[in-house]
Amino acid sequence: GRPVFILGIETSCDETSASVVQDGRIVLSNVIASQADIHKRFGGVVPEVASRRHVENITLTIEEALREAGKTLSDIQAIAVTYGPGLVGALLVGVAAAKAISYARGIPLIGVHHIAGHIYANRLVTELEFPLIALVVSGGHTELVWMKEHGHYEILGETRDDAAGEAYDKVARALQLPYPGGPHIDRLAHEGTAAAIPLPRAWLEPGSYDFSFSGLKSAVLNTLHNASQRGETINPADVAASFQDSVTEVLVEKTTRAVKEFGAQQVLLAGGVAANRGLRERLAKRCQEEGIPLVIPPLSLCTDNAAMIAAAGYISYQKGKFASLDLNGVPGLPL
Ligand code: KG4
Ligand code: ZN
Repeated sequence: GRPVFILGIETSCDETSASVVQDGRIVLSNVIASQADIHKRFGGVVPEVASRRHVENITLTIEEALREAGKTLSDIQAIAVTYGPGLVGALLVGVAAAKAISYARGIPLIGVHHIAGHIYANRLVTELEFPLIALVVSGGHTELVWMKEHGHYEILGETRDDAAGEAYDKVARALQLPYPGGPHIDRLAHEGTAAAIPLPRAWLEPGSYDFSFSGLKSAVLNTLHNASQRGETINPADVAASFQDSVTEVLVEKTTRAVKEFGAQQVLLAGGVAANRGLRERLAKRCQEEGIPLVIPPLSLCTDNAAMIAAAGYISYQKGKFASLDLNGVPGLPL
């Protein structure tokens, strides 16, 4: 039939993004206005600053996404917007823009869950094969998700404290590395010895698919503190390698256990931490051993972007699941 063009909008954290995606699979544009440089000064995302920046950027970002796609609003069949989870003041900017366009143009509005978006970034790479297991790891999320079919999500496990990326950033800060610290730890880890510093693995209760990273983070901080008390120096590369080994071992083993228990046909990796070389290599090796295909989107689709929101929104579009104009931003939205 006729191609379906969806305009996606994402403003849940510190990226203002708009995208045009055709039939939920083909990215015609994916414009991302990052605020990373501003938040860097504060060592993390400042919600008030993020909201104000979204307000300044949203209109230009949408116009640019349409222009790059060679489309105008009259070519767009629906608007898909992230309405949670995230920072409420940030979410509301995208939601308000999406509602305004939906109302003005008389086209359907689709509310998208941010994690569903991260998962559907993979559908911009290849067709999804069900049932599947998705591991979503970012600065704000750590979720292991089971999907039987399109648009059906079951959370098998999630973090009980810090997100994986958050733990990376906190350990990086302790090592006096710049924000966001994940990429710096990743690089250093490859120069260090993982067995150098014994660190805990948070397996939690037997059978649990949940994660916890705050104990590991505290163990790293204690190790650094005790060493400096004793006037000893610790090689930061060894700290990075030992920390990364603990994080990736738990993430990969829990994902593999879920694959076997549920009989998944495919493993998807998503979120900013999917950039981590240690995690990619370890997960690729385990998936190969289990004979199961692994999909990892290119980095530009792993970090927050609107193309993934349009891709997830397309599933709702096909099902006719539309939002009304009283759609709100929901910071703690369940999947
Ligand atoms: O998905 P994302 O861009 O934003 C959120 O939705 O949070 O993820 C950002 C997170 C940051 O915590 C950053 O340190 C982490 O992803 N990250 C990494 C790497 N690249 C980015 N963590 C570990 N290794 C990396 N190579
Ligand atoms: Zn995200």
